Amino acid sequence: MEPCNNDSTTLSTECYTSPDSVVNRTEPPDTRRFRTVLHSSGGGVADPARGLPDLTGQVALVTGAARGQGRSHCIALAEAGADIAALDVCRDLDVPAYPLATRADLDDVVAEVEARDRRALPLVADVRDPEGVEAAVAEVERAFGRLDILVNNAAVVTSAPFWELTEPQWGAVVDTNLSGVWRTSRAATAMLRRSPRGRIVNISSTGGVRAVAEFAHYVAAKHGVVGLTKAMAIELAGDRVTVNAILPGAVDSPMLAGLADELGLTPDDVHKRWLHDQLLVEVIAPGEVTGALLWLLSDAARHVTGHCLAVDGGALAR
Ligand SMILES: NC(=O)c1ccc[n+]([C@@H]2O[C@H](COP(=O)([O-])OP(=O)(O)OC[C@H]3O[C@@H](n4cnc5c(N)ncnc54)[C@H](O)[C@@H]3O)[C@@H](O)[C@H]2O)c1
Repeated sequence: MEPCNNDSTTLSTECYTSPDSVVNRTEPPDTRRFRTVLHSSGGGVADPARGLPDLTGQVALVTGAARGQGRSHCIALAEAGADIAALDVCRDLDVPAYPLATRADLDDVVAEVEARDRRALPLVADVRDPEGVEAAVAEVERAFGRLDILVNNAAVVTSAPFWELTEPQWGAVVDTNLSGVWRTSRAATAMLRRSPRGRIVNISSTGGVRAVAEFAHYVAAKHGVVGLTKAMAIELAGDRVTVNAILPGAVDSPMLAGLADELGLTPDDVHKRWLHDQLLVEVIAPGEVTGALLWLLSDAARHVTGHCLAVDGGALAR
């Protein structure tokens, strides 16, 4: 049996997975081994009252970081102690029709992170662009020398019956929302595997496990994110990198507002179309999705992987 590294405050893979330690043990139980596991740090619940994990010394890369849920994630992760690489496309695209975030939005997130005494690295990149993503991740390595957390959050949406979707609409939604998650994860995995507690959290949707009319491309992409999450969880388990997905319901963000504007919907229409099937019918605040993210990043969730966590007002209960 490999010796335990009892000085370490991080989880020791050898100690934890050695078959000797579980099956063929003839000597008395080595309680130090369990201390090592139970007292692992760097992700513990630092402030149980607020449910904040201690991410001090860790580095997080968040895509779609400049506004909405991504902005909320960046600020909360900085509050929990992480340095932040904030990636966003920061320009409008042909698809979707609603405006995307701006460079000023990204700079504002950087200022919020720095106001919490954490380092922030703004990255203007398009998750559809392989070279751009590789260059952004290389920049993270140059700036911080490590990566512990990847939050794949960037996405776009349009709405129409599937037979009316254009090639550019299908392509933009699938390439951003699904391929962008794979592409960014592929680029980041080498660093995440070197982290003592690598974590990937993919933001899917309730549309990732059930269909919604007039969102066939979005539903297909978000189902893909759920499958990709599970496949990556299997492939990265040997490196103790967990991979999970969050499935938000209708979240109060520029995406929801932009889509409503594009379709000419009033707030009342939005409630009728997208909130009526939630058991708790209020629109969900970005911070509530962030709360689920923080839990997935905490030590309490270190054995949670390949999981989909819905923050959906109970919509999936129906
Ligand atoms: N808002 C909702 O109701 C809702 C519901 C379920 C799931 N979600 C998911 O939550 C996540 C966050 O969405 P949000 O509500 O904050 O939307 P949002 O539009 O406010 O934020 C998305 C961010 O991604 C960026 N982005 C878009 N395309 C990009 C690209 N190609 N490369 C890099 N960045 C790009 C945008 O500039 C924007 O800052 C998305 O994955 C979305 O699909 C949202």
